[in-house]
Amino acid sequence: MHNIAIISSSIRPDRKSHRLALYFMKYLNDNFLANANILDLKDYDFPIFSETLKIQKSPSKKLLDFAEKIKKSDAIIVVTPEYNGGYPASLKNAIDVLYEEWRHKPVGIVTVSGGPFAGTQVLVSFQFSLWKMKAWTITEQYCVPDVEKNYDEEGNSLHKKISEPLTEAFLKELFWCIKADKSVG
Ligand SMILES: Cc1cc2nc3c(=O)[nH]c(=O)nc-3n(C[C@H](O)[C@H](O)[C@H](O)COP(=O)(O)O)c2cc1C
Repeated sequence: MHNIAIISSSIRPDRKSHRLALYFMKYLNDNFLANANILDLKDYDFPIFSETLKIQKSPSKKLLDFAEKIKKSDAIIVVTPEYNGGYPASLKNAIDVLYEEWRHKPVGIVTVSGGPFAGTQVLVSFQFSLWKMKAWTITEQYCVPDVEKNYDEEGNSLHKKISEPLTEAFLKELFWCIKADKSVG
């Protein structure tokens, strides 16, 4: 079974995009598609970036744990809200502190907004950052508008007829990339 890490990026007390992290974790685990775990940036509570892990003299246990989980995962799903047309500082913080760990890693991007535009303005800037890290962003996106109308607090989809085909297409591409990645070694 593949290991998939799901990064939940919003660290706001009243965050809503976390619902999508819960949704994908449950979908993958309940359907026995993968062993999926959430890497919650709210729990990690990393200090603002000052140096990469590689040259930190005494990295925290939390950072070493995060790095190990990124490295060991077969793929990553990043759930990000859109803040003023970009992705949140918490996510940039967690991306920049690593480097090698991201190399060739299949990454699926989930964008979330409270309004009608589904966080899609994040895609270009975030994908470019991942490209710079040599991660492998998959060519399907999962973009969620009106998050509170579409997912409940436990991460259940409120409109399965719409969400399931989109989820299947997104995960099909992610699993294809995992398979291709493993065949190269
Ligand atoms: C600082 C800030 C900036 C935001 N900027 C945008 C934006 O540019 N576009 C948008 O659609 N929603 C924006 N939102 C609303 C988010 O889409 C909304 O909070 C949503 O629930 C996802 O973020 P969350 O997981 O932090 O709740 C913004 C929210 C915050 C807190």
